[in-house]
Amino acid sequence: MSNTFVYPPLRSTRNNFKCPNCARPLVQLDEQPQTWRCDNNHSFDMAREGYLNLLLAQHKRSRNPGDSDEMIRSRQRFLGAGYYRPLSDAIVSAVVNAAGGFEQRVVDLGCGEGHYLQQLREASSELTLLGMDISKLAVRLAAKRNMNALLAVDSVFNIPLFDNSIDTAVSVFSPISADETARILKPGGTLIMVGPGEEHLSGLTALIYQQTVPHRGNNQVLENAPQFALQQQLDIKQSIVVNGTDILDLLKMTPYYWHSRPEQQQMLAELDKLETIIHFYITVYHNQSG
Ligand SMILES: C[S@@+](CC[C@H](N)C(=O)[O-])C[C@H]1O[C@@H](n2cnc3c(N)ncnc32)[C@H](O)[C@@H]1O
Ligand SMILES: [Zn+2]
Repeated sequence: MSNTFVYPPLRSTRNNFKCPNCARPLVQLDEQPQTWRCDNNHSFDMAREGYLNLLLAQHKRSRNPGDSDEMIRSRQRFLGAGYYRPLSDAIVSAVVNAAGGFEQRVVDLGCGEGHYLQQLREASSELTLLGMDISKLAVRLAAKRNMNALLAVDSVFNIPLFDNSIDTAVSVFSPISADETARILKPGGTLIMVGPGEEHLSGLTALIYQQTVPHRGNNQVLENAPQFALQQQLDIKQSIVVNGTDILDLLKMTPYYWHSRPEQQQMLAELDKLETIIHFYITVYHNQSG
């Protein structure tokens, strides 16, 4: 039997997930550790791989919400090949600097297949790591990494965590709610947002669009959010060479895939190498609400 069922005991039930039906704490049962139950008897079974699905059917907008399975698998292969290493190193430094201590609770909101959570775990065995994504496949793949993280399927617009329970939240190219994120962060807690810089993937978009309009991603979502005070912005820019089949994975993990014509996809599939700039902004905020 897999040992992914048994998570380290969390200090109080308020540090666990919230029941999506009644908002009481979900507690892992000692006698049946694959089951999490609230004191109103709503129970959730942990999937074999070791995650909880807390997305209630009535909150699903589609049968398979979030990124498509093909996007997620392409992203897992591409990120696993190390092309975004400068970004993951910078995220790890930003989190470790923000956390600066033992038993810090870090959540990756829209964690996808868990690439950045894994980098964080490799950098520190002391952080309590949590992750959530609305895509079941993404969370399943993250759980398969066996990285001692508490993982759930749910929406970042309805986060199954208690108020003031998180030290650091990370959001990498994912949707975000200022209100929900401020709610779960402790006062003074840190939010680390990652979005695309103006030149991100310019070598790829030049082959798809006649004229490119920089994609702003979620960079602007928090610009005027009163809950968050800007602390720091890091600009990461580098030229990379993408090889062989990784080029099509790169295309498929981005929204550019939907904008490309079949003959452009074919041309990219036949390329041996693609040189492109990768460009990211890492924006660090402090939660000034609460
Ligand atoms: C561009 S991907 C980024 C994934 C991961 N952060 C990374 O950088 O590898 C965006 C992710 O947001 C997830 N997502 C979309 N809407 C969501 C929502 N409402 N709540 C949680 N996750 C969501 C998608 O399933 C997808 O995994
Ligand atoms: Zn309940």
